[in-house]
Formats: sequence, structure tokens, C-alpha cells
Amino acid sequence: MKKITGFVSILFVMALFVATYANAADYIGAKKCKACHMKQYKSWSETTMAHSFDVLKAGEKVAEKKKAGLEDKDYTTDPKCLKCHTTGYGKGGFVSMEKTPDLAGVQCESCHGAGSEYSALMKKNKEFPLAEAKAAGLVIPSEDEKGCMSCHGGESPFVEKVDAKYKFDFKERLKKTHEHFPLKNKH
Ligand code: HEC
Ligand code: HEC
Ligand code: HEC
Ligand code: HEC
Repeated sequence: MKKITGFVSILFVMALFVATYANAADYIGAKKCKACHMKQYKSWSETTMAHSFDVLKAGEKVAEKKKAGLEDKDYTTDPKCLKCHTTGYGKGGFVSMEKTPDLAGVQCESCHGAGSEYSALMKKNKEFPLAEAKAAGLVIPSEDEKGCMSCHGGESPFVEKVDAKYKFDFKERLKKTHEHFPLKNKH
């Protein structure tokens, strides 16, 4: 009996550990960020990223798809495309339009990281230390070129060799993500 209780308590501690550390933050969707970051949200919503789920539909961007070697059909449930045209696909984020409509498209958290933990910190303390926000999962995009390349790199059908307009110049692209506004507090 003692042995079993011991085993069960080890399992419990392990489960607790996994719950605390393995899946640190959840994807919450751009609407939640919008509540506090209206200006960035508005600017982002005018980029193609905000509508990047829609281009997976049949009849959209037919010529561009053809040029990249893709036929005109419905790709909105194709895992290969969803990985780059939604937020957090395969990482606890977007699943399907029925289950997670708020995570369609390339949203804030595709660049800034899953937000449940750092947005709670931002809510609690407007002067949060940046190091704490990073520990809670916040990504500063200019420090994460690799993160961009997971979608803009060689796995994408839309790369420079298909059309020069798809060339990914990190420094130039950083400027076109959304308009930037000075922060009010020290972090
Ligand atoms: C989850 C995949 C993903 C990640 C990560 C990602 N992007 Fe993109 N990005 C896309 C897709 C898809 C589009 C094009 C959407 C379309 O044309 O419908 C795009 C478009 C853009 C555009 C064009 C916006 C416009 O309206 O002209 C810029 C700029 C951009 N990305 C910059 C970046 C930068 C910088 C990073 C890294 C900090 C990054 N992206 C990370 C998928 C991603
Ligand atoms: C590895 C990531 C990745 C995958 C996989 C991917 N895309 Fe994209 N897609 C992108 C990026 C990044 C862009 C934006 C390129 C740019 O603007 O420089 C894009 C752009 C597009 C565009 C807009 C092109 C234009 O000129 O307006 C369409 C349409 C598209 N993708 C459809 C698809 C379809 C359909 C699939 C699945 C067969 C797919 N993509 C798979 C990353 C990806
Ligand atoms: C394509 C990548 C990308 C996406 C998507 C994105 N951001 Fe950013 N964000 C950046 C970059 C780049 C910076 C500038 C900081 C840096 O140099 O890394 C930034 C900075 C910020 C800042 C600091 C203040 C400012 O204006 O520069 C806030 C707040 C912010 N983003 C919120 C958001 C919100 C909210 C969304 C979604 C509505 C979002 N971001 C979507 C790339 C992105
Ligand atoms: C309850 C309000 C709130 C929510 C929700 C929220 N933030 Fe923030 N965020 C803040 C505040 C306050 C600051 C500090 C603003 C300042 O100093 O001017 C901040 C700062 C930031 C910064 C700049 C960090 C730095 O120091 O460079 C980024 C990036 C950011 N938020 C992204 C996001 C994203 C992405 C989401 C959604 C996943 C989000 N925030 C949700 C309140 C919030």
C-alpha cells in the first residue's frame, strides 16, 4: 500500500510539473490584445497577414497560386497550409474554423508568442520588467529572425525564386508588420 501511495504521489508531482512548465502559455487571439493595443491592432488589421486565412479559399489568388505550382481548390482544412496561414497551428493554437475561429490568420501571437501569461502580467503591472514578460513567453520580433523564417523560409510555396516580390529582407519587413508607437512606461 505504502509503495502504491508513493508511486501515485510521484505521478502527481510529475503531472504538476508538466502542467506548470511544458505548456507554459496559451494562444488567446488578437481580439484580447486589441483591448489594450488598439493602435497596433488597427494597423495590423490593414496588412495581408490579418486576412491570410481567406487566401486559402478556392477562387482566391488563382493566378498567384498557379505561378507557385498550386491548383485552384479549397485549402482551408489542409494542415500543410494552415501551419503558416493561422496562429499557433499544431502548437495548441488554431485547430479549425469551427473550433478556433479567433485564431485564423497570422496574428499578434505568431510574432510575439502565445500570450496568456505575458498579457496577464501586462494587465497586473503596466511597468512590468521586460525580462519578466520574456520569461512569460513574450517575443521581441526583431530578436527572432528564425521565427519569421519558419513561415517565410524555404518551406513556403511563395518564395523569391517564384517571384522577386516574395523576397524576405528581415530589416525591411520588420517595418511593415504594423505601425509602431512609443511606449509610455519603462520596461
Ligand atoms: C505563422 C507564419 C508566419 C510568421 C511566423 C511570420 N509571417 Fe509574415 N506573413 C505570413 C503570411 C502567410 C503572409 C502573407 C499573407 C497573405 O498574403 O495572405 C505574411 C506577410 C507578411 C508581411 C506583408 C504584410 C503586408 O500587408 O504587406 C510582412 C511585412 C511580414 N509577413 C513580416 C513578418 C515578420 C517580420 C515576421 C517575423 C517577425 C513574420 N512575418 C512572421 C506568415 C507568417
Ligand atoms: C512555410 C509556410 C507556408 C506554407 C506551408 C504555405 N504558405 Fe502560403 N504564404 C506563406 C508566406 C510567408 C506568404 C507571404 C509571402 C510574401 O508576401 O512574401 C504566403 C502567401 C500566400 C498567398 C498569397 C500570395 C500573393 O502573392 O498574394 C497564397 C494564396 C498562399 N500563400 C496560399 C498557400 C496555400 C494554398 C498553401 C498550402 C498548399 C500555402 N500557402 C502554404 C507561407 C506559407
Ligand atoms: C509580423 C510580426 C508582427 C505581428 C503579427 C505583430 N507584431 Fe507587434 N511588433 C512587431 C515588431 C517588429 C515590433 C517592434 C519591436 C521590435 O523591434 O522587435 C512590434 C512591437 C509591438 C509593440 C510595442 C510598441 C510598438 O508599437 O512598437 C506592441 C504593443 C505590439 N507590437 C503589439 C502587437 C499586437 C497587439 C499585434 C496584433 C494585433 C501585433 N503586435 C502583431 C512585429 C509584429
Ligand atoms: C490588459 C491590457 C493588456 C493586454 C490584454 C495585452 N497587453 Fe501588451 N502591454 C500592455 C501594457 C500596459 C504595456 C506597456 C505599455 C507602455 O508602456 O506604454 C504592454 C506592452 C506590450 C509590448 C511591448 C513590450 C516592450 O516592453 O517592448 C508588446 C510587444 C505587447 N504588449 C504585446 C501584446 C500582445 C501581443 C498581446 C496579446 C497577446 C498583449 N500585449 C495583451 C497591456 C496589455
